[in-house]
Amino acid sequence: ESYDMGGHDTYMHKEIHEQADAVDRALRGRIDDRFSTVHLGGLNLDARDARAVRRVKILGCGTSYHAGQIGAQMIEELARIPADAEPASEFRYRNPVVDPDTLYIAVSQSGETYDVLAAVQELKRKGARVLGLVNVVGSAIARETDGGIYVHAGPEVCVVSTKCFTNMVVSFGLLALHLGRTRDLSVADGKRIIEGLRKLPGQIEEILANEAQIEELAKEYAEAKSMMFIGRVRGYPVAREASLKLKEVSYIHAEAYPASELKHGPLALIEPAMPTVAIVPNDELLEKNRAALEEIKARSGRILAVAHQEQEKADHTIVVPKNEDELDAILMGIPLQLFAYYTAKAMGRDIDKPRNLAKSVTVE
Ligand code: AGP
Repeated sequence: ESYDMGGHDTYMHKEIHEQADAVDRALRGRIDDRFSTVHLGGLNLDARDARAVRRVKILGCGTSYHAGQIGAQMIEELARIPADAEPASEFRYRNPVVDPDTLYIAVSQSGETYDVLAAVQELKRKGARVLGLVNVVGSAIARETDGGIYVHAGPEVCVVSTKCFTNMVVSFGLLALHLGRTRDLSVADGKRIIEGLRKLPGQIEEILANEAQIEELAKEYAEAKSMMFIGRVRGYPVAREASLKLKEVSYIHAEAYPASELKHGPLALIEPAMPTVAIVPNDELLEKNRAALEEIKARSGRILAVAHQEQEKADHTIVVPKNEDELDAILMGIPLQLFAYYTAKAMGRDIDKPRNLAKSVTVE
């Protein structure tokens, strides 16, 4: 991949369209079909170390923190290790308890974000084992961590991260599979996840082929002053990232909430002028998510669903291909990257360089 725009009007558009190739690169040479696992050369974590991990704590900022939230869920689901993600900026200011049985993972596109680097340095001072999940090879965080995974997204120029987010989440999927196979994940489940990972590049192409529908929807919703994004469990970090993407690039105010929390307050905001984007995967929570759509419709709220099939209660549905339940979050945010891009375009925003933002925040 080069810095040439290659016919795209912005780097954001170019980078969204590079995602199938980027994911293919993240998978290449890492899958081991013989043992239904993956090889992650730079991890520096043998099977004995992996089995000794009692908790996983993931640290990152912004989009990378959201990738970490999806990663934590994948690690809990596939490896059954308690895992959570926290903004690195918060973590380092709260004098956290540093536990020798916890595996810490710093996640960063640039590998230079000061808040993440400072958290890594503090953890190292306290004797923790810290891995990096980083895009830029040889960056400060890659150098200071004990090992890790390069996400291989290629150069990302647009301030707003798209392909790197996707490759981070794919890399967390690989790590979760690797940790799972050193613990209780069966050969059959390992095989199932590998098959799911292999489907991703083709499914990304399918989503991007639906660009014209997304462009039309974006033009329609660009009139909104504010938007709500909801999701449940696997869908919640997808909603958070999609809401951040829209805010960053279009400057439309957006809030992300767990769908289950709507009735505890934000339902008061729902009215025709406040559309909701709902993440509705075909998983064990489908009926619960449909109930949330009904609650919104009952308050005359407009709904744009991202789902695996048309949603009757939604005004519009963007249908995405189904993968394994544990991997669906990788795909469901991709149409909403395009949605953010086309909304910003309709509003005449400076897409690659949104106001007040820098690609990497290397100061405190
Ligand atoms: C991405 O859309 C943002 N510009 C921002 O949230 C970014 O993810 C954050 O600053 C962290 O950057 P990093 O991944 O380079 O550490």
